[in-house]
Amino acid sequence: MEKRANFGSKLGIILASAGSAVGLGNVWRFPTEVGTNGGAAFILIYVGCVVLLGIPLMVSEFVIGRHTHKNTADAYRQLAPGTPWVFQGYLGVFTSWFILCYYSVVAGWTLKYLVSAVTGQVAAISDSTVYFSDFTSNPWMPVLYMVLVILMCHWVIVRGVQEGIEKSSKLMMPLLLMIIAVLVICSFSMPGSSEGMTFLLKPDFSKITSDVVLSAMGQAFFSLSIAMGCLCTYASYFTDDAKLMKTAGSVALIDTTVAIMSGFIIFPAVFSVAEVAPDAGPGLVFITLPNVFQIAFSHVPWLGWAFAVMFYLLLLLAALTSMMSIHEPVTAFLLERFSMSRRNATRIVTLSCVVVGTLCSLSFGPLADVRILFGMTFFDFFDFVSAKVFLPVGGIIIALFTGWKLERKMVLDELTNHGTLRSRLFPVYIFLIKWIAPLAIGLIFLNELGLFAL
Ligand code: PHE
Repeated sequence: MEKRANFGSKLGIILASAGSAVGLGNVWRFPTEVGTNGGAAFILIYVGCVVLLGIPLMVSEFVIGRHTHKNTADAYRQLAPGTPWVFQGYLGVFTSWFILCYYSVVAGWTLKYLVSAVTGQVAAISDSTVYFSDFTSNPWMPVLYMVLVILMCHWVIVRGVQEGIEKSSKLMMPLLLMIIAVLVICSFSMPGSSEGMTFLLKPDFSKITSDVVLSAMGQAFFSLSIAMGCLCTYASYFTDDAKLMKTAGSVALIDTTVAIMSGFIIFPAVFSVAEVAPDAGPGLVFITLPNVFQIAFSHVPWLGWAFAVMFYLLLLLAALTSMMSIHEPVTAFLLERFSMSRRNATRIVTLSCVVVGTLCSLSFGPLADVRILFGMTFFDFFDFVSAKVFLPVGGIIIALFTGWKLERKMVLDELTNHGTLRSRLFPVYIFLIKWIAPLAIGLIFLNELGLFAL
């Protein structure tokens, strides 16, 4: 049998995993959530969720993936053969695919805006709301851009783990981090930007409700790519000397830093141009920002151009590295379970995603009136089900699985690389994963389903 692929270096491992974590969730979703949910108060709760729930769950997925060196579905099959736990393996693969389908739609928008920024169109938009809705409701264009980004992702995945995922992450992630640094500096230097900082840093605890806590947790899970099978799949390519706890800590740190930096890019810019509201919702980056670019740089147009190009390039890079990480679990599953060639497995995933992604994309246009459940369009449905149902459910199962089912010695062996690393944090990790994570996620999830009116 062919030798299974693995990442070639520790840096590659961290950059690929961080590439998965850093995505539209950081640049697009996080600032929107901060804007609508009480600024710094939300950030505090978010960081709490990352540390207490996110990192332990990430570590658990790493343990499962690296121990088995198998795709997610087969990993659970190996660890708990013939038991209902196997379900989580399939759920992970399915969730990845599910997210890929609607995530690609927004990724497509970022490509479109990048093209528009480069050609100077963003600077010439007269009404950005109309521009956005004209584009997204068009039956062809958004689908075309979506297909293009999926093909970019396909191009990477088909090249395999080291040549595709690792190489491209090593190129794209440093570029992404550099762009962020430049943009933060630009944004800070705009007049009136300090108000944006105040907005971001001043906590408004009156806005914190159970709903907001749920959003923070959902955002943390989404942003760290937890419970989707992708961390587990990436970890199955980790080398035996990779330090799992340290890697999880670094990935969480990079991810959270990028999210907060994105807030630092967006809010000072938005506030320096007083006309636009900071809680504009998901339209923030596609509707509010083009206005900001125009107004803020009306005196130096080339600066506005450069800011817009860098910003949308940042979004596209972030989206692509994340898409790779949800494409791979499904590809790896098909490839290994059905002994397919990588080429064919990748093709199947790409094609199915184009078909379903098209439905999601069209739900902003010709299919806008098609409501599939509780008044949700295709896109809303995919977003809601994955972020609010699959992720918490997957999170609870993973926590219970590692906390209660897996042999303690095996988990300890993985985390200490068979006794060669120190294990000071091990009891804390076990406590969090065994008790806190399932309880917290369970409570918040049940509350979301309306079981108790908190
Ligand atoms: N973590 C990514 C983000 O923040 C999103 C993502 C979702 C990545 C699902 C992989 C899988 O945007």
